Amino acid sequence: MRIDKMLANLGYGSRKEVKQLLKSGAVKVDDVVVKDAKQHVDTATQTVALNGEVVEYKEFIYLMMNKPQGVLSATEDNSCETVIDLLEMEDQVYEPFPVGRLDKDTEGLLLITNDGQLAHRLLSPKKHVPKTYFAVIDGEVDAADVEAFAEGVTLDDGYETKPGELKILKSGIRSDIELTITEGKFHQVKRMFEAVGKSVVYLQRISMGPLPLDETLELGEYRELTGEEVELLRDYQVK
Ligand code: URA
Repeated sequence: MRIDKMLANLGYGSRKEVKQLLKSGAVKVDDVVVKDAKQHVDTATQTVALNGEVVEYKEFIYLMMNKPQGVLSATEDNSCETVIDLLEMEDQVYEPFPVGRLDKDTEGLLLITNDGQLAHRLLSPKKHVPKTYFAVIDGEVDAADVEAFAEGVTLDDGYETKPGELKILKSGIRSDIELTITEGKFHQVKRMFEAVGKSVVYLQRISMGPLPLDETLELGEYRELTGEEVELLRDYQVK
């Protein structure tokens, strides 16, 4: 990668500003001053330093957020705050995007990355990556619902869902449930409950593929995935 692109990507200024930095002699690659903006750097093997401080370059960033309600799963929006707005500038410079969407009023696990290939594989309907939700349902969820979901239900547009695994945690006029589905149709969980005459009053995603929500994250907080977690996600694709 070109040295000016690398530094600009990392948020050290526009390409023009970075050119000035280079001209001033502030940048060294493997201890040698580099002034030429076109110089290529191998980010895997070479060390870049700016004013004597080593610059860490990652091609990809992988974040797990505990998404709060009221925030859009989008990269930008004219009127509403997005999950990307909640990120520190040092993470935003990697231009990450949310992996799939949670509704504005849904909380919980949201992966955010700039690794398009991984995101694509996680979202591909062919991969059947399971997503588990905790929900509070207005209505008494019963064994008939468990059976209906296990067979697949018909949504309002006629779509027959794939089987979903429904667990009743607490049944009453308000029920607590966990539902695992392997697809991601628009408002799928809410529409599956509508298909059996009930409505979702609270929805939280608690896992995606092999990754559970890190419960130490407060709503709106996020953290980088560990190397092991990234590997888990990658390996998960090929099964
Ligand atoms: N299903 C929904 O209805 N909403 C979400 O946000 C996620 C799954």
